[in-house]
Amino acid sequence: MVTVVVGTQWGDEGKGKVIDYLAQDMDIVARYQGGGNAGHTVVIKNKQYIFHLVPSGILHPDMVCVIGNGVVVDPVSLFEEIEYLEKNGVSIEGRLFIAENAHITLPYHKILDQIEDKFRGKGSLGTTGRGTGTTYADKFNRIGIRVIDFLEEEIFTEKLKIALELKNYLFKEYYKEQMLAMEKIYEETRKYREKMKKMVKNIALYLDRETEKGKQVLAEGAQGTFLDIDFGTYPYVTASNTIAGGACTGLGLSPKKISRIIGVAKAYTTRVGMGPFPTELKGQEAENLRTTGNEYGATTGRPRRCGWFDAILVKFACRVNGLDELIMTKLDVLSGLRRIKIGTAYNFEGTVYNEYPLNTKVFTGCDVTYEEVDGWDENIGGIRRYSELPLNAKRYIEKIEQTVEVPITKISVGSSREQTISK
Ligand code: GDP
Ligand code: IMO
Ligand code: MG
Repeated sequence: MVTVVVGTQWGDEGKGKVIDYLAQDMDIVARYQGGGNAGHTVVIKNKQYIFHLVPSGILHPDMVCVIGNGVVVDPVSLFEEIEYLEKNGVSIEGRLFIAENAHITLPYHKILDQIEDKFRGKGSLGTTGRGTGTTYADKFNRIGIRVIDFLEEEIFTEKLKIALELKNYLFKEYYKEQMLAMEKIYEETRKYREKMKKMVKNIALYLDRETEKGKQVLAEGAQGTFLDIDFGTYPYVTASNTIAGGACTGLGLSPKKISRIIGVAKAYTTRVGMGPFPTELKGQEAENLRTTGNEYGATTGRPRRCGWFDAILVKFACRVNGLDELIMTKLDVLSGLRRIKIGTAYNFEGTVYNEYPLNTKVFTGCDVTYEEVDGWDENIGGIRRYSELPLNAKRYIEKIEQTVEVPITKISVGSSREQTISK
């Protein structure tokens, strides 16, 4: 009844495209973690939509979309997206709902995110600066403001006062930055509070009732397995549980309700922001992938770091998420390469690692053992049948399936909905 879709690498695997494609058979699409840091691209009839908070199923006219309690919601970003949708003839009226217990990102979260990341100096994470991590920090520090608090004038004022006093102290005394005025935040958020009122719901209860009625729910993951706060390449991670388990806590959903878990894997690897990346390419080879794959961040526009497919990582992602199947994206980007490499083991100080090491020293310092396969020249963007793919493309897919031990059921060969092959 509930299908979960997760990223198996460092985000930007093409989850937005995959969610939009899979949503054809769904009733509800639900975001369960992350915030404005996510950037999910959907391309319909040559028009590109980038979603940060609105679930990627919204372009299906009858789809109900929900933002779960595990998401941190920046009202500015949310209503910018809604406005863009409405300008393009997509109405969200009566079909976009937000959990009353989701936390709100306010201006000070965004400022603090940017200052703190600069302050880390050499240890900077290269965050997206969207205030996602700092909102989660307040949530866990029990000084966060939930949607339901945000909407009640008295409660909001009281909570904002406490939270802001602390932040202003930091801004003034420690970071030597300008303080923020409470009245200004209060006034500037007024219009969002008004608009948000009719969108609030007890999402956990709603999803429970709808699934009992037999409705199909697609839980949309943001980021990727190796940005997970517990299992990613800490500290170079995001501030939430990006793995499939996050769908339960981020939606108030029983694990018993999840019937299918799908991983999205790019045909190569990318990473944006800082942190170790064993199969990373440098120089011209990286530049070629970046140009062909248009690898620039959907949220920040930063160039993405590019490298070979890392099967050790994806194998771990298959296990920790319990993947039933994988969907491979951007296979078309590899057309024209003479040889293609797949990372299959790490070597560090004489030891061979066939599994993802949680030890940062190993992961940062290792060399990679690769298996190589022959490439193909054909442009594959127009192919719709698996049998019509070049032999070497099929060999590449099958090699990865054997290595990660999970079937690849769909292959994406372009950014639009139709450019999808079922295997
Ligand atoms: P997400 O964060 O996982 O949703 O991925 P992003 O939207 O940040 O980045 C994926 C990019 O690749 C977007 O620009 C998509 O339009 C594009 N894309 C998705 N699937 C394919 C594909 O199969 N081939 C190509 N060439 N581009 C794709
Ligand atoms: P989607 O959902 C790729 C990265 C940032 C940074 C680190 C921490 O589009 O796949 P944060 O702002 O979350 O505190 O930044 O995580 N990051 C992403 N990288 N795709 C994303 O989302 C990301 N969201 C965060 O670049 O390295
Ligand atoms: Mg993205």
